[in-house]
Amino acid sequence: MGDSVACVARRGPASEVDFALIGHQESWRAAADVLAVLRGPERTPLPDDEIKDLLPWIPPRAVCHLNVGSIVGAKARGLYIDSFIPPDRLEAAYVHENIARVRGAAACAINTGAKIVSLGGFSSILIEGNFDQLPERHDTAFTTGNTLTVAFIVQGIKKLCALEGRNLQRSTLLIVGATGDVGSGCAHCLAPMVKRVLLSARNVERLRRLAAELQAQGVQVEIATSLQRFSAEADLVICAASLASPSLLLGQIAPGALVCDAGYPKNLSPRAELLGATVFFGGLGQITGGLRFAPDFHGILNRHPFPDVVHGCLLEGMALALEGRFEPFSQGRGSITRERVEEMEAIAARHGICLAPLYNADGPVEDGPHGQTEKQPMQETAGQKWIRE
Ligand SMILES: NC(=O)c1ccc[n+]([C@@H]2O[C@H](COP(=O)([O-])OP(=O)(O)OC[C@H]3O[C@@H](n4cnc5c(N)ncnc54)[C@H](OP(=O)(O)O)[C@@H]3O)[C@@H](O)[C@H]2O)c1
Repeated sequence: MGDSVACVARRGPASEVDFALIGHQESWRAAADVLAVLRGPERTPLPDDEIKDLLPWIPPRAVCHLNVGSIVGAKARGLYIDSFIPPDRLEAAYVHENIARVRGAAACAINTGAKIVSLGGFSSILIEGNFDQLPERHDTAFTTGNTLTVAFIVQGIKKLCALEGRNLQRSTLLIVGATGDVGSGCAHCLAPMVKRVLLSARNVERLRRLAAELQAQGVQVEIATSLQRFSAEADLVICAASLASPSLLLGQIAPGALVCDAGYPKNLSPRAELLGATVFFGGLGQITGGLRFAPDFHGILNRHPFPDVVHGCLLEGMALALEGRFEPFSQGRGSITRERVEEMEAIAARHGICLAPLYNADGPVEDGPHGQTEKQPMQETAGQKWIRE
């Protein structure tokens, strides 16, 4: 395929790869765009049905080089490796196939001699944050990137509360996917700052354990496996469930609620009736020290309405590379503490990696040069249509 980057064994002193990012596409449109760049501009784009037939046969591979700069002058060189998990095959039925893809992508990263690898989205969920499931890692460290993700979710919630004049201390916070790595990290950071916390997930035992931990810290907590009662009671909502597609309806939401959708892929269904709520996509950061792709995947791998915006999970690997800390900063499930979030936040900020401007499917949600604060009903956009497809 065209001008792409081969995933060749390059271990040893000649290796110039500081970091590798492992990701997957959230929609067929995104996957089609990636394939179009890999095939090169001289070839006519493939029809959608051919792309859907072809993608499951593409093995994990590096698709481009990345150069990232820091505001204090550090530079790091990396690779983006796509596991090519088809966007409609994140379901449990494909778990073995997908774990094999993540392992293949990890082997690819290890072979290039990357010193640190970030596992984007489902790449870490599939192996449940357990790096023992990866191939022999030599000197390559892996991170799930979830600590920086939590940092940006929390920053986004605080920023929107400040913009809308909300008092965090008087708020009721609902976390969907509360017992996951991201959800529990958010709970540990935000629970001490709010009035009451509502935790939701499917497994009641894990919910009880998390609730007990928070209660021991004096937090007022309730748990439920159904959202029916919770949705209407919360004025802050974090959606961090590992859903294979945007299928979360949330139910009857409180008018004026602030809702952070941190899913990758997104959690919220385009059919969710969130009238009167302000929704933003959370866990995203922005690189201010410079980001270059070769070949040029700008706007294709990072499909956001603002420049150099990247998922927090992938940014963590870049931040650690710029800092020269090649270590498994985030691993396992449920071990993200407030102190670790602050530490990671400081590393990222030192290199100019900061919270991305807040936006949702309809555009920016904050005042400033990029847009205005608006209460947006969630309407299906062309992008979301592709996600569904
Ligand atoms: N924005 C970013 O940069 C970024 C970065 C990293 C991760 N993420 C995304 O954040 C989400 C969570 O990731 P994670 O690593 O925390 O995953 P995780 O550790 O696997 O946790 C997933 C959570 O969702 C719950 N859950 C799963 N299916 C559910 C369902 N159908 N209904 C309700 N709850 C459900 C799980 O509990 P039960 O199994 O008990 O239901 C668990 O609490 C994923 O979408 C991931 O891709 C985003």
